[in-house]
Amino acid sequence: MSFREDGAAALDWAARYLERVGELPVLAQVEPGDIRARLPASPPEYGEPFADVLRDLDEILLPGITHWQSPRFFAYFAVSAGEPGILAELLAATLNSVAFLWRTSPASTELEALTLDWTAQLLGLPGGWHGHIEDTASTSTIAALAAAREATGRSLVVCSEHAHSSVDKAARLLGLELRKTPSDDQFRLRVDALDLTDAAAVVATVGTTSIASVDPVPALADACAGAGVWLHVDAAYAGSAWVCPELRWSQAGVERADSLVVNAHKWLFTPMDCSLLWTRRPEDLRRAFSLVPEYLRTSEEVDSLSEYGPALGRRFRSLKLWAILRCYGREGLQARIREAVRLAELFEGWVRAEPGWEVCAPRHFSLVCFRHEGDDEHNEAIVESLNRSGELFLSHTRLHGRYVLRLAIGNERTTEADVRRAWEALRAAL
Ligand SMILES: Cc1ncc(COP(=O)(O)O)c(C=O)c1O
Repeated sequence: MSFREDGAAALDWAARYLERVGELPVLAQVEPGDIRARLPASPPEYGEPFADVLRDLDEILLPGITHWQSPRFFAYFAVSAGEPGILAELLAATLNSVAFLWRTSPASTELEALTLDWTAQLLGLPGGWHGHIEDTASTSTIAALAAAREATGRSLVVCSEHAHSSVDKAARLLGLELRKTPSDDQFRLRVDALDLTDAAAVVATVGTTSIASVDPVPALADACAGAGVWLHVDAAYAGSAWVCPELRWSQAGVERADSLVVNAHKWLFTPMDCSLLWTRRPEDLRRAFSLVPEYLRTSEEVDSLSEYGPALGRRFRSLKLWAILRCYGREGLQARIREAVRLAELFEGWVRAEPGWEVCAPRHFSLVCFRHEGDDEHNEAIVESLNRSGELFLSHTRLHGRYVLRLAIGNERTTEADVRRAWEALRAAL
């Protein structure tokens, strides 16, 4: 078979998968080790046809896939890989550019800068920020905190108790101390409890992982400015919502941040992985990361994006983001975000209206935190039985010591009928 024929078969596989993904059990219904046990322990001696790879993908691997593309994936932060982004991934792999220097892929370097500028415009961010792409928000936050340490010469990071664990991990990797600040009754960092003594950076979260709460960024920006502290904003999930002007209340103060991360692979319909990191202090990032050995010296006076983060080799990630921004447009992005928020609001209303159920945190975006009356074991049993059924996939958190269910909407294929099915399944699981 030729590349052309195998390629057509792979694309056909992808199209059929997306058509039927809603019929597959959302959470993989396998036990640890099941998949590996069905695969040969050693690699083949001689090459096999690509058709065999596709066959085994269907027969062996697919049962072990948890379907993030399912319209009833409601766990963690639900995401979507939009079709233009899927196709662009194929093209990026075809080009296989490694853009560590401008000259090793000028188009990749320049398109990355352009797409970050475009996205900044779409999200209503200040003009003139320097943007580049990292693989994940975890890496973006490592980069931002390394720059903060470089800029301040201090080694303490301050965040709320609800900041993502990637902040803890970044601090650990960089040898920084971490000080967690308590939050208020709406799960926002308490500015009155903030202690910036010796701080290099504050990490404020817009859209926390558990409940999508929004830290008081304007007050944190004031405090940071007064103490010469770097302000990093983690808007990995909720930052994409700023494409809708009515959700930009949550952007207040972000224009004063030193750095900001938004994951296009979370709620901007771009396939994993694509984490957008902006800074208004690019020279500090560069001082933290630039290291140019002889073999990488060139005569061009241009930016190499590898000087702004930990990795040298850089994939052509901007191609998929560009494809999404072009094929969806501002209007298409807004329509998808608004629909997710509308569906979450609808679900929240059903929970509020039903005796015995309770909404456990204010809903700002497309995440609803809720529970049924009764103890933690009862609520955990509901989640476990629904996830085991394959009908939908939910995750949980713990708030004020209580087990809380989370329903996150973010897949572009999720319809009102899917959300209604989830609510009916929840009620039937009691
Ligand atoms: C608020 C927040 N920040 C950071 C992360 C980490 O993202 P990544 O998996 O891209 O490192 C997450 C993951 O869900 C998150 O919710």
